[in-house]
Amino acid sequence: MLKKEQNDLVCATGPGTPMGQLFRSYWLPVLHADDLPENECPPVRVKILSERLLAFRDTQGKYGLIDEFCAHRGVSLWFGRNEENGLRCPYHGWKYNTEGQCIEVPSEAPESGFCQKIKLKSYPLVKRGPVLWAYMGPPEKQPPLPEWEFAMVPPEQVYVSKRWQECNWLQAMEGGIDSSHVSFLHRGDLGHDPLFKGAKGNEYNLKDMRPVFEVVESEGGLYIGARRNAENGNYYWRITPWVMPCFTMIPPRADHPIHGHFWVPMDDENCWAWSYDFHPTRALSEREVNDMKEGLGIHCKYVPGTFRPAANKDNDYLMDRAAQKAGRYYSGIAGFAIQDSSLQESMGPICDRTKENLVSTDNGIIMARHRLMRAAKALVDKGVTPPGIDPEHQKVRSASIVLKPEQAFKDAAKDALTSQLGKSHATV
Ligand code: FES
Ligand SMILES: [Fe+2]
Repeated sequence: MLKKEQNDLVCATGPGTPMGQLFRSYWLPVLHADDLPENECPPVRVKILSERLLAFRDTQGKYGLIDEFCAHRGVSLWFGRNEENGLRCPYHGWKYNTEGQCIEVPSEAPESGFCQKIKLKSYPLVKRGPVLWAYMGPPEKQPPLPEWEFAMVPPEQVYVSKRWQECNWLQAMEGGIDSSHVSFLHRGDLGHDPLFKGAKGNEYNLKDMRPVFEVVESEGGLYIGARRNAENGNYYWRITPWVMPCFTMIPPRADHPIHGHFWVPMDDENCWAWSYDFHPTRALSEREVNDMKEGLGIHCKYVPGTFRPAANKDNDYLMDRAAQKAGRYYSGIAGFAIQDSSLQESMGPICDRTKENLVSTDNGIIMARHRLMRAAKALVDKGVTPPGIDPEHQKVRSASIVLKPEQAFKDAAKDALTSQLGKSHATV
């Protein structure tokens, strides 16, 4: 449970808020590299941390992320003409470069120097792996580029999708930390989904419905360990890393690609659920990539031409009561992604955490919330650099592993929980 002031603090990420300042300390995923496929391609609207921005790629291939609206009289530059190293507003022809600098005002004589005085807000936007990342904080604090393993492996080893989720980012991310829901909400899919099925770990998952949770701090966030009974008195551990502010990684199953998420606020009542799948040592197979494109695993199908899931709140997420009764889908909703989004959106646009009744399986969530609030306060009050910015903090892995009962997971699985490019991962 949180007090109302705490809930307000941790959910609000607009400009000038403490959590907004925290988020603006990191490189955040904002677009697929494919969204800007070539030089002078159409610009793309980006809403992130309650700011309305526009991304474009100029004649030289430079990426820009600038204020969406023209400095003249506020027209959306989404209508702009992407031509000769700049984006030109179609209303009166003012032109801007990727840094937001106005480089031409046709109505004014160039000697007047008028256009040099006009500059739109702009943020650096860079490609790393299959994603374009933005940094929206003070330029003097810009951190090194991110080194998440999914963004560092060769391109044939990774697949990334994003979907619009219609609720605050935190309740979405809390689903990524809370692995206790897997034995319930997703149980019907563990045995069927081609990107999950066939793992020995699934049997442990389904047999032991009372996992014991153990959460330990990592440099950048937390490792959330869920312990279930295996054979001969041993324990099956599923270990989920959370790295500040909004990165989670699902423990692997057999030789399937590893799945995980980034939960990025669009505004306080909407977020982007980024979903990545990568394999540390091999290319994804054609079948795997096709399944991901079809919306299987942690991905989803869309309303055509949008990133809104086809199953959404306007159609009750295509609830199937017969499948719920038969146990095919525990909640009656198909697919991991929509099983999660339907329930998280049902909490309301911003979950009221003053009314919760938390139990021991919620320890990871409790610790993550407090770590976020502590880091935001330390940043705002004392300028302390938050955890998770240092690329070393980002070199984490999830793991599923069988350990002897006397072994503490944080020591016994230490290697397995550290990403090592090109090395295989620990999975059951
Ligand atoms: S509103 Fe953009 S040039 Fe006039
Ligand atoms: Fe889930």
